[in-house]
Amino acid sequence: MMYQPTDGFRWTARLQSLEDYQLLYRRSIEKPEEFWGEMAQALTWFHPPDTILDADLDLADFSWFGGGRLNACYNAVDRHVKTRPGKPAIIWAKNEPGEYEIITWRDLKHNVGRVANVLKAHGVRKGDRVCIYLPMVPELAYTMLACARIGAVHSVVFAGFSAGSLRERILDSGARVLVTANEGPRGAKRVQTKAITDEAVEGLSQVQSVLVVRRTETHVPMQAGRDWWLDQEMSKHRGTCPVEWMAAEDPLFILYTSGSTGKPKGVMHTTGGYLVYAVTTHRYVFDLQPDDVHFGTADMGCITGHTYVLYAPLTNGTTTVLFESLPTYPDAGRLWQVVDDLKATVLFTVPTALRVLIREGDAYVKKSSRKSLRLLASAGEPINPEVWRWYHDVVGEGRCPVVDNWWQTETGGVLIAPLPGAIPCKPGSATLPFFGIEPVLVDDEGRVLEANGASGNLCIARTWPGQARTVWGNHQHFIDTYYSRFPRLYFTGDGCRRDEDGYYWITGRVDDVLNVSGIRLGTAELESALVAHDAVAESAVVGFPHEIKGTGVCAFVTLKPEYQDTSPEQMEGALKKQVRHVIGPIATPDQVRIVSGLPKTPSGTILRRMLRKIASGETQDLGDTSTLAEPTVLDELLKQQLQMESRR
Ligand code: WT7
Repeated sequence: MMYQPTDGFRWTARLQSLEDYQLLYRRSIEKPEEFWGEMAQALTWFHPPDTILDADLDLADFSWFGGGRLNACYNAVDRHVKTRPGKPAIIWAKNEPGEYEIITWRDLKHNVGRVANVLKAHGVRKGDRVCIYLPMVPELAYTMLACARIGAVHSVVFAGFSAGSLRERILDSGARVLVTANEGPRGAKRVQTKAITDEAVEGLSQVQSVLVVRRTETHVPMQAGRDWWLDQEMSKHRGTCPVEWMAAEDPLFILYTSGSTGKPKGVMHTTGGYLVYAVTTHRYVFDLQPDDVHFGTADMGCITGHTYVLYAPLTNGTTTVLFESLPTYPDAGRLWQVVDDLKATVLFTVPTALRVLIREGDAYVKKSSRKSLRLLASAGEPINPEVWRWYHDVVGEGRCPVVDNWWQTETGGVLIAPLPGAIPCKPGSATLPFFGIEPVLVDDEGRVLEANGASGNLCIARTWPGQARTVWGNHQHFIDTYYSRFPRLYFTGDGCRRDEDGYYWITGRVDDVLNVSGIRLGTAELESALVAHDAVAESAVVGFPHEIKGTGVCAFVTLKPEYQDTSPEQMEGALKKQVRHVIGPIATPDQVRIVSGLPKTPSGTILRRMLRKIASGETQDLGDTSTLAEPTVLDELLKQQLQMESRR
């Protein structure tokens, strides 16, 4: 069924018909330089770009807005201080319900300037990397913008990752300054960010200064000469700090994300292209209106936080909500309470959160007003059609369009989404491409599938301003990951179907990446974490459909001989703990299955496809089992699966 934009929404929308969209889309594809040159005028440039695009698809080298000079912090902060100094730039919704703090544009500029001066005093210069390991506190926004102001490159690490993961990211980025907090309240828990940081930087001479945000009264050990309270440091400095005029292609930030091989890679985004793409997509996809209060629940450790909680709303002069808590804290009514308290107009969350809230029943939603809401958005994973309908019918009472937007860390901003006043929706489909985006479906042999009604690997045929330019410190890795599978096409790693109407339906990852509750985990990373445990001989990790998380983590493990007598329950517990410790709580396997052997081909390749089917309960249809080196292995796996099913 098609959901047409309601008349009420359409009347004030930026784009009001499918024809409006098609016209602009066609222009963006036929005259990309003209189109993006115009879009770039939404920003304030110190020096306007001389050229719009310079691309070499064979070398995966892209440059947008060459010759242009600008500063992201100036665009997000300074220019709005002149026109709307007293308007809330950020509303901080603290962990405890009902506690808010308003940060006006004037306050924001002052605080960002002071943090920028602190960073400079700690030796940070243009081009240096600063690692940020913070809960969702205002200082997180200040530090990111302060980095942008002085031309430093921020690398935000999600405060749910372990010390080991943090250390790996610090080492890879070469950051010498790290910003953390004494601790981070999150729901009923307090994340021990400082203690985790201490473990992460232990013995690392690379890290010279650790700046510590005082989020709570709790005292934490401070190492003299290395650790500094940020509030004390800020009090030593003025709020005035000149901006560094950056070249459009200068890096703005690095954000680590998991891929199908090896360690997480540092995806690098630039100043000009990223910001132009962020503000343009924000304007059209979220149908920006001047008095919007944009409430995105994403963590800043995720690209959604960077683009649609911080950079795009602020640069467009929109009030943004910084949400420190969880959708379920203290109960399932939290999001609706924040919406009512702050009169939020746009709500942007992940399907996982919606699936959890649905289970708690409609009463929590219905006791709130939600009158302020205009638009509902969802991204991060495929949204089940029934969840889409609940969002639309119950949360939005049929009034608000649901904008299911598809994109990735690497894309910087939304690539496929319904422009809400213009494009009719089908629940579960992200619908049509954004301006300048040319999706291409290819089969496994690389043949382009032209017709509608086809399924294949989702690729993008040309560059767009928000595209990541490289993997930090390793451009070859960038080429190998995104441009080698299908020459001259950006390979997304997602499978996709294009229906008869040309609508895109993302079917999930086709590589060895698991999307768990909207967070990307590489199976290779999970396997390394398991094998690092003394007891483990071999492991294979696969995903399986999970009611809440979208994808659950299932680990098949064989043990070394000396551990084979350990009880399976004890071993499972130990291995879950192991992964939690090495990567972080989010990666904890839902299932650990101890087996005596893994299914392999005679040449030793693990048959993951088979394991995926078994873990998903699709044991009837295992495909070709004749390539198995040891058929008895399969019998054991199937027996175990049957036992698990009968226990449920
Ligand atoms: C992967 C990217 C949205 C950006 C934040 C996550 C999956 C993302 C959707 C959607 C179906 C989606 C894809 C993609 N994904 N949005 N609307 N429908 N799948 O960025 O951590 O880089 O993950 O998330 O599989 O490849 P990320």
